[in-house]
Amino acid sequence: MCGIIGITGSEDTAAGLLEGLALLEYRGYDSAGIAVVEPSNKIFRLRAAEQGGSLYHLGNGLPKEKTARLKYAAGIGHTRWATHGAPTVSNAHPHVDCQSTLAVVHNGIIENHNRLARDLKERGHHFASETDTEVIAHLLEEQIAGGKSVKDAVISLLTVLRGAFALALVHKDFPDTIYAARRTSPLIIGSEAGVGLLASDVAAVLERTRNLFELGDDQAAEIRPGAFRVYDHLGVEMQPKAINVGWSTEAARKGGFPDYMSKEIHEQPRAVAETILGRLEPSGETRLEELDIDDGRLAAVERVLLVACGSSYHAALAGRHAMEAWAKIPAEVDIASEMRYRSMQIPKNTLVVAISQSGETTDTYHAMRQARSQEVMTVAVTNVVGSLMTRETDGVLYTRAGPEIGVASTKCHVAQLALLQCLALRVADLKGTLSVAEKSAVAEEILSLPSLIERTLLGQEQFRKVAERYAEARDFYYLGRRLGFPVALEGALKLKELAYVRAEAYPAGEMKHGPISLIEPGSVVVVVAKRSSLWEKIMANVEEMRARGATVIAVADEGDEETAALVDDVLETPPVTEVCSPVIGVLPLQVFAYTVAKAKGHDVDRPRNLAKVVTVE
Ligand code: M6R
Repeated sequence: MCGIIGITGSEDTAAGLLEGLALLEYRGYDSAGIAVVEPSNKIFRLRAAEQGGSLYHLGNGLPKEKTARLKYAAGIGHTRWATHGAPTVSNAHPHVDCQSTLAVVHNGIIENHNRLARDLKERGHHFASETDTEVIAHLLEEQIAGGKSVKDAVISLLTVLRGAFALALVHKDFPDTIYAARRTSPLIIGSEAGVGLLASDVAAVLERTRNLFELGDDQAAEIRPGAFRVYDHLGVEMQPKAINVGWSTEAARKGGFPDYMSKEIHEQPRAVAETILGRLEPSGETRLEELDIDDGRLAAVERVLLVACGSSYHAALAGRHAMEAWAKIPAEVDIASEMRYRSMQIPKNTLVVAISQSGETTDTYHAMRQARSQEVMTVAVTNVVGSLMTRETDGVLYTRAGPEIGVASTKCHVAQLALLQCLALRVADLKGTLSVAEKSAVAEEILSLPSLIERTLLGQEQFRKVAERYAEARDFYYLGRRLGFPVALEGALKLKELAYVRAEAYPAGEMKHGPISLIEPGSVVVVVAKRSSLWEKIMANVEEMRARGATVIAVADEGDEETAALVDDVLETPPVTEVCSPVIGVLPLQVFAYTVAKAKGHDVDRPRNLAKVVTVE
């Protein structure tokens, strides 16, 4: 889950690398580094390892005269989220070989690195880090010393290395060339006006070019100023696939907000509006053309299995209800990291929906692959065009939320909720399980979500005021029933990951089976109490909490005085049907967690110990 950037032929190589790394920081940020080939055929390398400040230190450590000398040269940069070895300078990328003839950056995990390192050490190589990456530098060193060209040595790695990797390197004797190779972890090549670019993520290069290409699985590349060549593992030249990216470069910036998270909370009406755009009519007609699955196959689906991790898993839990309520077929949900290791026989005619904001979460990707190996139909729901999961699935549905930089998912989560509703309505439409009037009522409701989100967010100030009152509380319990439960889970996850506060989420009816013994004066219970058929039951659960001394905050409908009278504080949201309620109910809980985290002085965009894209198990 690290980030890679490469630039050659630009008059601002060093500054450009730092800029690219800043755009990639959300992929990991415990250390960072760059390497550029100097005109004197030496590798200039600079690295830093400061939690939250690596790039700043990198920039400060780069003397002006050096920047001037590095013009037009080939350079690579890396921002790291540690997997092998602590986040120290010596473990920061780029890594070099014994003679510093080349420098390598890498994203992923080299599974056979232990054996490779042992053999290399026996042959006299000296290792300077604890990383799996360093074997790459020494392997290349040997291959090149044995007479291979750098290009051929890189291609040979595709056969030698096991695991997932995206790697880039520069060599001292080829000052204008970046070499790259990948398996599983993505790499994007860009070419514009005499400049060659490489990145693990389009966000890093979008400001420089939209002329982008995907480096395929098990392919290697040579990138020179304004030109590049791609090869397969046998060295046969390949034609790379162009990528069409619709994001604006502005969408990748903070847009005047103090942090990405508040910008992304604010962007939620648009994220949902764009996600549903053109996909459903007020009449209830649905169009999911890019899904690219034959209507007959979709109509024949008899059950749905949704798999995901984290916030995407919570979206799946809510999406299941839409599938059951509208398409009237069984829908199960599984956590991807569990599903991938179960001996699960997935019945034929199951539709497996793998949900991942990044499209690169290892567990979700492998769960999806496991389903595919059983020849069931899979759909990937993701926000990242061309991401890993989109390349190995029957169908793809994109949430069109734009890049989400904040580590805590907000706009992508609500876009996932809306998109799963569109999918459920599509299946219902094909199966004919809803009447014309029902279909249209559902569609009207989904279509009204962007304006309802906007209306809800007008209450942000009130949500903040309530949250400030609880900024010092120690234990939170988030409760909900049916569609309120995924909202409770998501609210608790937000508080945990941003404010570093213990927050447990339970189906409200489950409290009396054990967890209620934790409740005591000082406990804060956040209950999702929007009006639904289960409102009375949930309020009975609230009474049980209050009787044991808990303070209760309710996510309730605007103007619901009855609920307000039974709790200590209310987070008011517009009324909405129960199936669509998670989209609205989660919003005050995002703001709540954000406010508590800010009150504690935490960096909401980069919570400790987390990375945006989880490409390790
Ligand atoms: O990219 P994905 O949606 O697959 O990511 C899944 C989780 O890692 C992610 O939702 C995580 O839980 C977020 N930090 C939640 O805010």
